[in-house]
Amino acid sequence: GASQEVTWLGTPISELRRMPDCSAPLPQLEDDPDLHTVMIKTDFLKDDNIPVPYPSKFKDTWDDVYVKMPCSSWNLFPIEDEVIVYFYGIVFTVVIILNGLLYFIYFFLQNAILKYNASHAKKWDFRALHIYCAKVNKCTHTEQMILTFLCLLQPIPLLKRGMNHSITMSQEQVACLLANAFFCTFPRRNSRKSEYTNYPDINFYRLFEGTSTKKIEKLKTLMCYFESVTKQMPAGLVTFTRKHLDKPPKWKSSQTQLTKLHITCEGTIEDDGCGMLQVDFANRFVGGGVTGSGLVQEEIRFLINPELIVSRLFTEVLDHNECLIITGTQQYSKYSGYAQTYQWEGNHEDVTPRDNWQRRCTEVVAIDALLFRNFLEQFQPMKINRELNKAFCGFARPEQKPEHLSAVATGNWGCGVFGGDTRLKALVQMLAAAEAGRDVAYFTFGDSRLMTDVYNMHSFLTQKNISVGEVYDLLEQYYHSVCKNPDISLYSFIYQQVHPNSDSVRADVPTED
Ligand code: AR6
Repeated sequence: GASQEVTWLGTPISELRRMPDCSAPLPQLEDDPDLHTVMIKTDFLKDDNIPVPYPSKFKDTWDDVYVKMPCSSWNLFPIEDEVIVYFYGIVFTVVIILNGLLYFIYFFLQNAILKYNASHAKKWDFRALHIYCAKVNKCTHTEQMILTFLCLLQPIPLLKRGMNHSITMSQEQVACLLANAFFCTFPRRNSRKSEYTNYPDINFYRLFEGTSTKKIEKLKTLMCYFESVTKQMPAGLVTFTRKHLDKPPKWKSSQTQLTKLHITCEGTIEDDGCGMLQVDFANRFVGGGVTGSGLVQEEIRFLINPELIVSRLFTEVLDHNECLIITGTQQYSKYSGYAQTYQWEGNHEDVTPRDNWQRRCTEVVAIDALLFRNFLEQFQPMKINRELNKAFCGFARPEQKPEHLSAVATGNWGCGVFGGDTRLKALVQMLAAAEAGRDVAYFTFGDSRLMTDVYNMHSFLTQKNISVGEVYDLLEQYYHSVCKNPDISLYSFIYQQVHPNSDSVRADVPTED
């Protein structure tokens, strides 16, 4: 349209499926030793009741199968008469005092954290926390909010490489774990050289260091979460599922046709993709730099939905054919800007409906793209395969009927920090989604040129009934020809290959540049 600015193309977003409308009824929530660890009693799950931990007695473990807990009797470190952290056998209490006493917390943290992490005392730096406490928190409230946790009685299994396993816990249990992460109490997790080298950092010590405004905005966002759960503990559950792709699709011979595409240069995955399968542009260490200095798509998502951060406690680094699916997290903060300009914009009231397991209908899938330093490298068939399988692992739900699958809400996966090509990645994700039987809502994050190009390519391929296998083949051909002629773009190449003498078709073949 010449007069009006086009902000979306393709299928109207209202025609794409969302949870809970499209969801199949959930089976009974049940613990299964092989597949699903359920950390709460499932018989009394009700709307506003805080779920009851299961079992009712603390089971103390200290091995390489479960997360080593701060409250374990094996956790030996010098605890004296701390005000804040008590370890009394099964009763594990962390008291968080907010607002009026934050400055006190700063002193507490400096002293307490350093006391039980004595070996790090010289290295750790609390300047960001100091600035946050001294300048940002205006001490307007004087009441103290106290949060007591007595809720983690069952050992948490580590989700290791190759495992297909879920963990369901209450939002209260998540809050307890995050409070411990904040206070850096998880044993063996403060040095990358320990037994947890293949796990992301969970203790927050790196958040407190430095003086950048990014850190202050991150702290504001996390404190908003702690404040919110201290005022009112959410009563839902969250499920973390590690998934391994056993049998990758035979891409080359796939007859599958592309699914529907809605593409827009406005909006975000988290705002406009509610109820869809929302892609986290992940690091293979899930959460990436969220507890350090990172602040792009994944880190921002983990900050506004901090329950996602708990996955770092037990999720071993993702392999090429693995993903992590997190269902039921809640958004607590609003934000503006991105990366350097990121700002916390206050409390967010999450009204996402809950499913029968009392989880918010928010499904996030962490898939890590490959990092490309050399532009042409990503067109190698091996690399394309890897990205296709990674996305497919994240999108496919073979146990579900296609009509119960929500659309995938995604965007420039792997194309920011990881240096991928948006036009290739859009195509790769469309193929993976088609093979998984899901429609796609694609957010170009302000890029209207990309919106038009991808839309035109998608319409072209669907009009010509070009299958997933045929597109895959074109990608392979492109790799071989691009070595000879690096000037031709992927989309021009595809248009040309499908229509060799393209003069007569030029009219219906969209021009890319
Ligand atoms: N909704 C839609 N699109 C977005 C959004 C959003 N909320 N935010 C950003 N984009 P990037 P990567 C677009 O760089 O390249 C992290 O540290 C925007 O166009 O986060 O896969 C991870 O932990 C942006 O440029 O993803 C990994 O270590 C593009 O998505 C690493 O970054 C890519 O965002 C992953 O980097």
